Amino acid sequence: MKSVLAALIIAVLGVPLAQAKSDYHGLPAPGAAALGAPQAAVCAACHGSNGIGASSVYPNLAGQKFNYILKELEDFRSGARTNSIMSAMAMTILPSKHHANLKDIAAYFAQLKPMWTYAPAAAAADHAQIELGKSIYQHGVAREGIPSCAACHELGGEGNGPMAIPALAGQHAAYLVTQLKQFASGKRHNSPGHVMHMIARKLNAKQEAALAAYLRQLDPATSLGIGPKDFAAYARAVIARHASAGKSPQGAPGARAGKSAH
Ligand code: HEC
Ligand code: HEC
Repeated sequence: MKSVLAALIIAVLGVPLAQAKSDYHGLPAPGAAALGAPQAAVCAACHGSNGIGASSVYPNLAGQKFNYILKELEDFRSGARTNSIMSAMAMTILPSKHHANLKDIAAYFAQLKPMWTYAPAAAAADHAQIELGKSIYQHGVAREGIPSCAACHELGGEGNGPMAIPALAGQHAAYLVTQLKQFASGKRHNSPGHVMHMIARKLNAKQEAALAAYLRQLDPATSLGIGPKDFAAYARAVIARHASAGKSPQGAPGARAGKSAH
């Protein structure tokens, strides 16, 4: 647990950019989303033509992080993550050179109008539950060893692209609760270093429900987030930082020429 957190902190400080690239494939190719759109038609039956799941058991994919979608599709295909429906669906994606089809589909869903823009306003009756969820999400529960979710999923719940950490804001509450329970029981065991297993098994049912209710209605635009909000902005910030330090990160053309400031 400690080593995972330490690895994340190192990553957030920008050290293993090369590692993030090779682990998570970096930025989508130009035009990928347009190539992904026709291939994603089959997915719409459950995940919606706008990337909003047709029912609360089908996760929203609209605005989900490119690297995370790609990782999950690869996990379903390899068996690292299993689901009776989705494992079969992931196998229908046709093989392609350098996994281009997977990347195109991931790029397509990542650029749709994000799921949190569809989030319903919180009902007044849910106020106490949402406040509990917000408190755990932002601060964790120190005496129970529950860390702040925001440390990894970001304050606004928008996720972290380079780290393949998913957006949670605007996700279906029922789906979130199911995933937390599956991480806790070990049925879902594909988080790096089993970090989500170690966290989820500490949550009780009331805390799970409160977190899901809070996340369902969370809009990152209303949170005082810090740092870049999307992967492209993150990549530009990292390149600019390296350029100003006088060294170019591997595989980042333009950084040395200083053309990447905007
Ligand atoms: C018949 C319904 C169905 C279809 C069609 C379908 N999915 Fe899914 N998908 C699911 C279900 C159910 C889950 C949740 C699995 C779980 O609970 O672990 C899921 C989960 C996912 C996830 C993980 C999301 C997350 O937040 O972790 C991704 C990514 C995904 N699907 C992509 C696709 C793509 C791409 C296609 C089209 C090639 C597709 N799905 C077609 C039902 C479907
Ligand atoms: C140390 C970093 C870290 C912390 C802290 C953390 N998470 Fe996660 N979480 C992750 C990663 C990484 C994944 C992606 C797992 C994978 O690769 O499939 C994830 C996945 C999830 C998912 C699955 C989302 C989906 O679309 O299927 C949920 C739900 C979730 N986390 C909720 C939480 C909650 C609630 C908390 C706080 C109690 C929390 N996480 C704290 C790193 C973290």
